Amino acid sequence: RSMRDYGCFVFCLLAALLAGFLSFLFVLVWVLHWREGLGWDGASAEFNWHPLLIVTGFVVLQGSAIVVYRLPWTWRCSKFLMKCIHAGLHLTVLILAIVSLVAVFDFHNTQNIPNMYSMHSWTGLTAVVLYGVQVLIGLLVYLFPFAPVTLRATLLPFHVFSGLLIFGAGIATALMGITEKLIFALSRSYNQSYSQSPPEALFVNFLGAFILIFGAFVFWMVTQPQWKRPQEQVPKTLPPNGGRASGAEERGEMSADPENSEIEYNREAARKRYVILDEAGQRSTM
Ligand code: HEM
Ligand code: HEM
Repeated sequence: RSMRDYGCFVFCLLAALLAGFLSFLFVLVWVLHWREGLGWDGASAEFNWHPLLIVTGFVVLQGSAIVVYRLPWTWRCSKFLMKCIHAGLHLTVLILAIVSLVAVFDFHNTQNIPNMYSMHSWTGLTAVVLYGVQVLIGLLVYLFPFAPVTLRATLLPFHVFSGLLIFGAGIATALMGITEKLIFALSRSYNQSYSQSPPEALFVNFLGAFILIFGAFVFWMVTQPQWKRPQEQVPKTLPPNGGRASGAEERGEMSADPENSEIEYNREAARKRYVILDEAGQRSTM
């Protein structure tokens, strides 16, 4: 809307990107510098893929996928393109999460450590399974053209709620996992318990803080109604004049809010696109 509001959004986005980048950097430096590096040897270097991939994917990439509809400069792009980006990012996250779980289960099995004993593993596996279900339902209902408009509209609040719940659960799980690992790893090394605040502990506490800050900015951006992507015009039945329904009302809106010209441009474009989609036999862009 106003320039100031736009500035607020860009500030939040840059803050989130910075926190997300620092999360990635810190988890990478943690496993490479303070831990045993990366490898696929059934030992610690294999475990290390677990935090690296899960923080990069399930936290940073997932958060980015969630805010992608909110980027004002993408509002001229078709909803279909944005859905492909949203879905493609989430699919990438799912694959990274699965690889990361394979790494930790394989590590446990090779080292004869029991599986699924911790609260971290319970919340974590639940989050990843629900995430898989969310991707599947998202694809079936919103990307493929089969679902009717009413189903799309009915499920959307649940999609948004469960998406944010899974994202939040992922962050909680990541913080638990980081704490566990610090306690395990530092109590084992000589004279370096977590409670003595060795440099590694301090560094990794910052990783946790960056993850939480990233989550906070994503959550803020995605819950501000004024930053939503403008609605596509989705008429229940398309009038014979090609979607130019109740023109008076729309023209009235257009002149009432000149600052909204970008959005109005988008609505016009969206309507035209909708007509084209409708001609192609596709019923909804929601
Ligand atoms: C184990 C999931 C983040 C550290 C596990 C296990 C799961 C899991 C399902 C059980 C593996 C098994 O029983 O063999 C997740 C998810 C995460 C996440 C979904 C993020 C959303 C992290 C992070 C760390 C971490 C960031 C930091 C180092 C550990 C450790 C174990 C483990 C030390 C072995 C001990 C245990 O089973 O609790 N994780 N994890 N995790 N994870 Fe994570
Ligand atoms: C919107 C999460 C997968 C389609 C959203 C929103 C969240 C979310 C939090 C709200 C965004 C906003 O209000 O700006 C997730 C998660 C997914 C996932 C966590 C994967 C686990 C998918 C897939 C599709 C999809 C595969 C298929 C195209 C949509 C659509 C919206 C949406 C159409 C509505 C955007 C709007 O209101 O303009 N998703 N999503 N999602 N998602 Fe997903």
